[in-house]
Amino acid sequence: IQGRILVSKAQLAEHNKEDDMWMCIRGVVYNVTRYMDFHPGGREELMRGAGMDATELFNKVHPWVNYESILQKCIVGKMGSSLPDEN
Ligand code: HEM
Repeated sequence: IQGRILVSKAQLAEHNKEDDMWMCIRGVVYNVTRYMDFHPGGREELMRGAGMDATELFNKVHPWVNYESILQKCIVGKMGSSLPDEN
């Protein structure tokens, strides 16, 4: 994985605005702020997964979409914490 940081749930949740949006899909956290205008489903739909683990939403709508390729430059890191009681 390209990203180097571990992202906690709390950290992920802080990035839930249209101008600063992170999203987790299958354990990997992406900064989707700049992808927003390119999302074929629109801003509003993408915002439903803002600042959270959007794996289920994503899978429900379009499990066939190759997000790994689309978002490869947007990787922030992966979900996890070095602290035992975070997450
Ligand atoms: C459509 C990418 C996240 C909702 C699409 C399409 C792509 C795409 C490529 C066109 C699919 C097609 O025509 O076959 C992505 C990527 C995501 C993401 C890379 C990850 C960041 C989400 C999330 C939702 C969502 C979290 C929220 C539920 C939709 C909807 C459509 C769509 C409703 C329109 C489907 C349609 O009109 O047929 N997305 N999407 N997407 N996406 Fe996403």
